[in-house]
Amino acid sequence: MTDQRAQWPSDHLIISKTDLKGKITYANRLFMQVSEMHEGQLLGKPHSVIRHPDMPRGVFRYMWQTLQKGEEFFGLVKNKTYTGKYYWVLANVTPNVNVQTGKINGYFSVRRQINESVEEVIANIYQEMKKIESAGTNQSIDDAVAYLMAECSKAGGYRDFVIGIAGVRFK
Ligand SMILES: Cc1cc2nc3c(=O)[nH]c(=O)nc-3n(C[C@H](O)[C@H](O)[C@H](O)COP(=O)(O)O)c2cc1C
Repeated sequence: MTDQRAQWPSDHLIISKTDLKGKITYANRLFMQVSEMHEGQLLGKPHSVIRHPDMPRGVFRYMWQTLQKGEEFFGLVKNKTYTGKYYWVLANVTPNVNVQTGKINGYFSVRRQINESVEEVIANIYQEMKKIESAGTNQSIDDAVAYLMAECSKAGGYRDFVIGIAGVRFK
């Protein structure tokens, strides 16, 4: 990993789709550009190919729990590029529902750039979560999620917390 930030135009979205297991089935051009990976390196792979080691496991556990309930997920995620640069995003992950069967057949993620000033706030919380998880047990991941929930409770939960600090307004 390096301390170099990957850059991209702030009004552009990084988009991908997955199957039910989280394997990438589609990545837009910007996803490939920012990741420094071509389609062949991404399709069929899990998103952990761009997982940054600073990310606590608990954030992804919470993400999957939210999706499995059929709900959409909003989260702040630090990702890595092929050459070890990093970039933060506000990720909105939604279940993809087959209109004919009404069943979930995959997931869709839209990622927005966030303001640099927000990164420090969330990075501090994630650092604390990593410390809790360093116990290395399954329970410690749940404990880290509980810590995250407690930190965000004043804002009305993790979802409202991240939308609030990212300053995104959805109509
Ligand atoms: C639609 C979708 C988008 C995802 N986007 C990311 C992402 O941008 N970065 C990331 O690290 N994980 C992302 N994940 C989560 C990964 O599937 C995985 O749970 C996470 O990287 C942790 O991997 P690990 O448990 O193998 O360490 C996404 C999952 C889905 C379903």
